[in-house]
Order: sequence, then C-alpha cells, then structure tokens
Amino acid sequence: MIEKGICDMAVHFSELGLVNTREMFRKAMEGKYAVPAYNFNNMEQLQAIIMACVECNSPVILQISKGARKYANQTLLRYMVPGAVQMARELGSNIPIALNLDHGDSFELCKACVDNGFSNVMIDGSHLPYEENVALTKKVVEYAHAHDVTVEGELGVLAGIEEHVSSEESHYTKPEEVEDFVSRTGVDSLAISIGTSHGAYKFKLKPGEPLPELRFDILEEIERRLPGFPIVLHGASSVLQEYVEIINKYGGKLENAVGVPEDQIKRAAQSAVCKINIDSDGRLVFTAMVRKYLAENPAEFDPRKYLGAAREELKKMYIRKCELLGSAGKA
Ligand code: 13P
Repeated sequence: MIEKGICDMAVHFSELGLVNTREMFRKAMEGKYAVPAYNFNNMEQLQAIIMACVECNSPVILQISKGARKYANQTLLRYMVPGAVQMARELGSNIPIALNLDHGDSFELCKACVDNGFSNVMIDGSHLPYEENVALTKKVVEYAHAHDVTVEGELGVLAGIEEHVSSEESHYTKPEEVEDFVSRTGVDSLAISIGTSHGAYKFKLKPGEPLPELRFDILEEIERRLPGFPIVLHGASSVLQEYVEIINKYGGKLENAVGVPEDQIKRAAQSAVCKINIDSDGRLVFTAMVRKYLAENPAEFDPRKYLGAAREELKKMYIRKCELLGSAGKA
C-alpha cells in the first residue's frame, strides 16, 4: 500500500472530464506543434494554467510530480483537477485536459495514479539498466492500458549541469535503442535526452561563452527510426531572464541561471516532439511577482494580493508558452 486510503477513492479519468494523450498527440504530430505540460503544486498555479489555456484555446497536460503529491496532499490535488475541468467549462471552453504523473518512479506509484484518475503516467526507469527499464515500463504499460491510461517512458538520462558541460555522450538517448524499447514496452510516448536538464541552471558557461545547441541530430535520428511516434522533451524552461532579473532586483540571489532559448524550443515543437515540460519558468514567475509585490507593498499582508499578482503574470507567461509551442488555437 503506497498511500493510506488511496483505494477508497478509485476513479477513472473519464469520470473527471479528462482525456488521455493519444488524440492530443496525434493532432500535435499532424499539426507540427507540441502540447504544453505544466507542473502545478497549488491553486494559483492551476488557476493560471486553466485561465491561460482557455484564453488561447490550447490543449493542456497538467502535471503532478511525486514531490507535488507529497507537498499538497495527493487527495487534495486529485480533487482539484475535476474542479479545474469544470472551471475551464465555466470560462466557456471545453479544451482537452490530461492529467499526468511526472517522473513516476515505481509500478506502485503509477498504479495508484491510474486508479485515482490520472489519464497519463510517466514511468521513469531511465536510471536503471536497459533491461530493467524495459521490464518496469512494460509492467506499467500493461496495467495502464487496461484502464485506457497512456504511458510515457524515458530513455537517456537528463544531464545535470556538470555532466552536460563535460559532454558525457552516454547521458544522451541512444537512437539505436529506441525502436526496441518502444516495441517491447508498448509505451505511447518517449521522453528523450538531447541536452536539456531540469531546473534553472541548465548550462554552466564560461564568461562570454554562447549557450550550446540542443542535439537536434539525435532527435532527427530518433524521428527517422520511429516515424510518427510522439517524443517528449523534459527540462524545457527557458529560464526567462526578465523574471530572473526581477527576483535579483528584489532581494533574490539567482546567479548564472540560464535555460533553453525559445527559438530552440520552437524548433523542437515543430518536430516529432509532441509534449514539452515546463516547470521552472512557472516557479520563477511566481517568485518574481511575490518578491516584487511584497517589496513594493510592505504594509500588505493579504495573501490574495501577492498570490493574485503572481497568478496574473503566470497566466501571461503560460499564454506566451502556448504560442511558442504552437498549441494556441488548437484545442
Ligand atoms: P524545467 O525545470 O526546465 O521546467 O523542466 C521541467 C520538467 O521537465 C518536469 O518534468
């Protein structure tokens, strides 16, 4: 039993007004755009995502990580999602909304999410020896597919800052493995490693050194080997410098925070990449606006004021991302 009480509230995603990613990705592949996958941990982030995606008419994948489940309480998060679906409808739009477990690390966790209304789960066995990754991913796929839940697997480890700079080729996805992995596991999408990493410090640069290019050659080789198959890009925040500057201006200390330039994200979105994960950019906007608001309004103590300011700016940032990814107008 992974979490107490979890069996008492089994529900299928279709009862929550959610969709799995199959049709979303088919359309994204055909239309040469990517669906945004935005992480959330609290109400204001969720509201901002929904408001943004309704306003620009974009499909969206809501993502909950293991850490988010722990932070916000898995039961509470699970009940917030149907509320978000209803909110989208009340705002006048029936945009497709999927709910994904981000970086599931065990069969038990993935199963718990399938049983509790998630419409897509990621099983991240990328750190395991290849055969173990295949076996674990296959087990999750068998359970999830029996409930019409789609599954994302991962091959290749997203490099950390040190690893990336020392160009450890072994961390990139090996194209020669992808056909075997996809056919033996039955996954619906595949996360790959082409040079991105999680967080706000993606590249360690010497002064004056330009940002490195993502390994589009690896992506192209994977596309060639898996024609029409949905690819997922993690670690895709651009670490928008205007927000880093606001954070630093109002007492923060983020040094050398850099992300993937937006033109490279746009290029990826037009390829077989159908899902693009963005978390850090949301965190940066949130932090920037809270810092700014509190610094400029030192007498204010109503959380709705500073969280509201963060929510407003977050919404703008999510619309900007949907436009960049090409998903705006595609709901
Ligand atoms: P960022 O840290 O670049 O936002 O990546 C998030 C992510 O990939 C979540 O799985």
